[in-house]
Amino acid sequence: MDNHRTTERYGIHELDRAAFALRNGSVIAFPTETVYGLGADAFNPSAIAQVFQAKGRPPDNPLIVHISDMGMLLRVAPHVPAVAHALIDAFWPGPLTLLLPKSEAIPSSVTAGLPTVAIRMPRDPIALELIRHAGVPIVAPSANLSGRPSATTWQAVAEDLDGRIDGIVCGPPTQIGLESTVLDILQDPPRILRHGGLEPARLKKIVPHIHWPCHATDRGEEIVATSPGMKHRHYQPVAQVRILYDSHLDENAAGKLLGRRGWIGIHPPVATAVYAMVIVVNTIEDYAAQLFETFRKMDHEGIDTIDCESVPLDGIGLAIMDRLARASSKS
Ligand code: TXA
Ligand code: MG
Repeated sequence: MDNHRTTERYGIHELDRAAFALRNGSVIAFPTETVYGLGADAFNPSAIAQVFQAKGRPPDNPLIVHISDMGMLLRVAPHVPAVAHALIDAFWPGPLTLLLPKSEAIPSSVTAGLPTVAIRMPRDPIALELIRHAGVPIVAPSANLSGRPSATTWQAVAEDLDGRIDGIVCGPPTQIGLESTVLDILQDPPRILRHGGLEPARLKKIVPHIHWPCHATDRGEEIVATSPGMKHRHYQPVAQVRILYDSHLDENAAGKLLGRRGWIGIHPPVATAVYAMVIVVNTIEDYAAQLFETFRKMDHEGIDTIDCESVPLDGIGLAIMDRLARASSKS
């Protein structure tokens, strides 16, 4: 694929044009309620190959298929167990991705050779209308270069992918700011593979025995997700990310080695003077919504170290701490 293509801008009133291009094999980014996705026709192997190429995504990391109605679901996964129906009734459209046995019509490159396919129906009206107009299910990984923070604005998509993809639907910033929750209901007990925009407490109302892997560390419980993509580098800005478990600790330590420092947290830092940039969010939801954009802004400002205040492992806090753990990992 040539990486010097012109990346067209589509306004939110030009979804029919963007959908037509998707239908004809183009690769086009669009907003969802979680993060921007990089869309392509889920039945078109060459368009799917371009998605992997544009992102620099390892081929062993499967894609999520996005649908706009239940008719499309059956074209992607003809066998839907009763528990999936209950979850779909409760949470679709929305930030829940379900694994189901895949239809043979879905190319194996979508699922990285796995017999299951990850599916979600987004609730963002732009995403839904685009998929409806396209008339085909749309694969959409997060619209960022592989390993980088996900894109929550169209400008962030352009920063990573201009010249590498065919178009961007220029919608508003995404509402949730972190990706969907990925749930495997084919295992018993059902297992969360990636924490995300739908909190486990709500899932437990439908599937009480839901489970997610944890392991104990000196910080207490930590989250370990097991979806195939999770072994790769993820969500990392250029700056080094650090998790601060106690905002009073460590703020004056090793100032020189840490370079220009940025802070994001629910509270202001105690030692304000050591920070070149400070983002204080009002709620845990705002933390989620602003995290990836803050990473990108701090890179633009030449910040070397981003100190991120830890949050309790509860609700959307589970997803925030998962992203922070991966963003701060050296691997
Ligand atoms: O919110 C979201 O889910 C966004 C928006 C665009 O919808 N998409 C997204 O896609 O986050 P991506 O590709 O960045 O992450 C997909 C995750 C990866 O961790 C991948 O390994 C997992 O879903 N996944 C996909 N198919 C799978 C499968 N068959 N089995 C297990 N995990 C799977
Ligand atoms: Mg991603």
